[in-house]
Amino acid sequence: MNVYNFISDNIKSVIQQIDDIKAVLTPDILNSIAVEVPKIRDFGDYSTNVAMMLVRVMKRSPREIADMIVPALLGMPFVESASVAGPGFINIRLKDEFLLNPERFVTGTADDVRPLGVDMDYGSYNIGKKLHIGHLRTTVVGDTFNRIARFLGHKTKSYNHMGDWGLPMGLIIAWVLKHGMPKNADDINAMYPASYARAKEDKEWLEYAQKITVELQNGNPEYNEIYNTFAPMSLAQISKILKRLNILPFDENKGERLVAEYVPDVQKILEEKNLLVHDAGADIIPVKMESDTAPMPPVLWRSSTGAQTYAAADLAAIYYRTKTDNPDDIVYFTDSRQNLHFTQVFRAAKMAGMDSANLQHIGFGTITGADGKPFKTRDGSVPSLDDMMDMVADNVRSRANESGKQLSDETVEMIALAALKFNDLMHDVKSDYVFDPESVTQFEGRTGPYILYTAVRLNAVSKKADAVGIVPAPDTGALQAAERNLLLRLLDFGRVIENAFARRATDLVANYTYDLAQDINTFYHHCPILRDDVAENVKKSRMFIVNMARQILLQAIDLMGLRVPDEM
Ligand code: ARG
Repeated sequence: MNVYNFISDNIKSVIQQIDDIKAVLTPDILNSIAVEVPKIRDFGDYSTNVAMMLVRVMKRSPREIADMIVPALLGMPFVESASVAGPGFINIRLKDEFLLNPERFVTGTADDVRPLGVDMDYGSYNIGKKLHIGHLRTTVVGDTFNRIARFLGHKTKSYNHMGDWGLPMGLIIAWVLKHGMPKNADDINAMYPASYARAKEDKEWLEYAQKITVELQNGNPEYNEIYNTFAPMSLAQISKILKRLNILPFDENKGERLVAEYVPDVQKILEEKNLLVHDAGADIIPVKMESDTAPMPPVLWRSSTGAQTYAAADLAAIYYRTKTDNPDDIVYFTDSRQNLHFTQVFRAAKMAGMDSANLQHIGFGTITGADGKPFKTRDGSVPSLDDMMDMVADNVRSRANESGKQLSDETVEMIALAALKFNDLMHDVKSDYVFDPESVTQFEGRTGPYILYTAVRLNAVSKKADAVGIVPAPDTGALQAAERNLLLRLLDFGRVIENAFARRATDLVANYTYDLAQDINTFYHHCPILRDDVAENVKKSRMFIVNMARQILLQAIDLMGLRVPDEM
């Protein structure tokens, strides 16, 4: 549940019962009422601007208006106290019972969310190419977004729109025809780069591959057989690293090839609407609008070699997805170099009347090294995702060695996973960020290991409490500040998740989790739990809080696709 909404809805309904206010209230004013969590909570848990929003229509001072509202707020069952501060802010302190009500506020956040159909396009890897650093964000952010949407009860479908039907595939087939099928995993990923390098030097080779591409698309049986053998080998490689990264399986590995069968349908629509223009042997869709100030090239629908294009596959995919899933949204996650491509494709889809879904592209920034340039390994190459995990895992291992800890390989892997993914998730997707395998593995600060460490700690406390037979039970007698702060944070979970979904901002979840971990550790520091000198009812109450915190923390960790080790 979204406690912000709950509180602001209640404030709104209370003021509507005050006659003087009711007479002048407009929907605009109701919408402008905001509830905030003050940074310093000495005066209240929430504060609201409601009185200030009424000044103009009521022609009274905000303080006078606030004084009218406060008594009504005090009548609400969850309000402990309400007071006026500053120019007319109203501060509200919630009752301890309210904070300790896990049923309504901690579990299940989806009670007031309308389920949406959401198709998502992320990962979208290329056959015959190793997954590399450029795939990290689309994979990690896309997966987390999917988990968040599902958690909120939305109907999601994840698409791995495989790049498997263009010139790269032609280049691979050309190579296979000359050198035979790959013999091992390394071979699988070496063929495309080798063939591509050759095509750069050798025009005939390029033309040969282009010809193969068109014939493959036109059904040449030999080429299709090579595709059918090669593609699953490559996909198996891709699945392996996705498993290592704890990524949910895609609902559909339906990419450029599998949507090819819808290209003729789209072609027909484009023709009917007169959207296609022949241009130097190619077919294009002009999408420039008068209002454009930046260059807006046309969509390349069919290339002059006769091949299906990248854009055609995307339009066919939109056609297929809207027809089969009828989603409310289709959200694409790629790096921002594809901004223009998606602008063009979305415009063409709209012109063709294929925009029943809300089409949205989220473009990522770049992962850089300390020098601000795209991150490279020490030998200057682009790291694969396996390389990245290995680099981070090495750092985890040496850190553990330094502090004399023995960690199992599995634990090291889990910590590395958290370090890599959390660091990716905590940054705003649009901005660049610096990747440093050393700093992401620190056990303190805004890092994945810090989050895991907090979870391991809570798991251990829970286990110990179980062992000594403590039955958690809330006790509303005088909660300490650290307890209240933690509970208020837990109450905020629903709002954060809803915002993360609505704004496609997975960083909100990561940073919330960090704040939560800090509140947990502060609570732990100030409020002894199982110590002998702690009264029994306090022990039980603190264990009750521990359990609630643990539930939310583990849920947040799961939304980020991290795994928690038994010990660290
Ligand atoms: N395979 C593409 C690439 O690696 C990404 C595809 C993104 N999704 C899409 N529907 N175009 O650049």
